[in-house]
Amino acid sequence: MYRNFSIVPNVMFGRGAFNQLRDIIAPKRQTAGSYFVFVLDDVFSGKALEKRLPIEGNDLLLPVNVDDEPKTSYIDALVQRIGDYSPVKPDGIVGIGGGATMDIAKALSLMLNNPGSSADYQGWDLIKNPSVYHVAVPTLAGTGAEISRTAILTGPVKKLGINSDHTLFHQIVLDPELLDGIPKDQWFYTGMDCYIHDVESLQGTFINEFSRAYGEKSLELCRQVFLDDHRDKGDKLMMASYFGGMSIAYSQVGACHALSYGLSFVLGIHHGIGCCIAFDQLEEIYPQGVKEFRVMMDRHRITLPRNITAGMDQKDLDLMVTTALNLVPLWENCLGADWQKKMTRERCLELYRRM
Ligand SMILES: NC(=O)c1ccc[n+]([C@@H]2O[C@H](COP(=O)([O-])OP(=O)(O)OC[C@H]3O[C@@H](n4cnc5c(N)ncnc54)[C@H](O)[C@@H]3O)[C@@H](O)[C@H]2O)c1
Ligand SMILES: [Fe+2]
Repeated sequence: MYRNFSIVPNVMFGRGAFNQLRDIIAPKRQTAGSYFVFVLDDVFSGKALEKRLPIEGNDLLLPVNVDDEPKTSYIDALVQRIGDYSPVKPDGIVGIGGGATMDIAKALSLMLNNPGSSADYQGWDLIKNPSVYHVAVPTLAGTGAEISRTAILTGPVKKLGINSDHTLFHQIVLDPELLDGIPKDQWFYTGMDCYIHDVESLQGTFINEFSRAYGEKSLELCRQVFLDDHRDKGDKLMMASYFGGMSIAYSQVGACHALSYGLSFVLGIHHGIGCCIAFDQLEEIYPQGVKEFRVMMDRHRITLPRNITAGMDQKDLDLMVTTALNLVPLWENCLGADWQKKMTRERCLELYRRM
């Protein structure tokens, strides 16, 4: 069975594109008494970007905090906030920030039109009703969240996305100017998320020409960004992120992402840095990729945290292994249909112990 693959229908790309946001959303302001919600990463509170938001009339500015990766309880509370703000539903949601903020914007747009808790929809195609119109303006590049059909959330029992065609943004505005001034470590970790998407997709058993076409281009752009010097490296990284996301959307990620989910669920380690910590131990699975990754780390003088699992008790370690091994499609893509013979609990635990 082939997947019938939905993609983001409207894309604007270019330096300064953010200035056109007002015009882009204007035709969507349709309901009398309605408003737009601007979901803004609170790192921008009081900053120039906040002042440039095209806020009008009843619009609601909703700063969000992403010190922790988004939780279902946080989404439910924010839906409640919007409900308390107005009995009328918003005409649209605009998410401005990195992967976490984009995921919050996606989840809010879904939950405004679907009853219950966001935790009820963690899984595949559980969403019944189309979302509210929603737009992303990424301020970090690498996750591919701008084009993916998932909103990754940590719930009471699992970290799992709300995967559905309705999750996809209706519009994305890719403005490389917004990447200027990101702290270097964060820039690197989120960028490596993209590099790792490419390696895992291209080296996976699910690979096909669709995914390869996007994955190879994305990898080439990552190399230009992280191994060369280019004046327009922001433009390149934004397109790498988009293409990397397109690549995994029609294949899958692999071992590194499975392990990073365990790190995130049990230790609260963020996605980008978690992927880097895990990838650094995966030389036996991705020899070329890990070698090149280390060159990139050296070049940018990145030092990864070490011994993060040293003080953990057996129960937590077991939970981490279970979390990782539950991600069946990722392992199947990485190691083939008989992956369970190759990635035993013992081997997985050993990998975690090294981190
Ligand atoms: N939906 C998807 O397909 C998908 C894919 C991968 C990861 N994710 C999710 O994305 C999140 C990781 O996203 P991320 O790596 O983009 O980081 P992030 O959104 O978690 O942000 C990381 C940090 O950077 C700050 N930040 C954001 N933009 C900035 C800027 N321009 N300048 C300075 N600081 C800035 C944030 O405030 C935060 O402190 C995780 O929650 C992960 O689960 C989603
Ligand atoms: Fe990722």
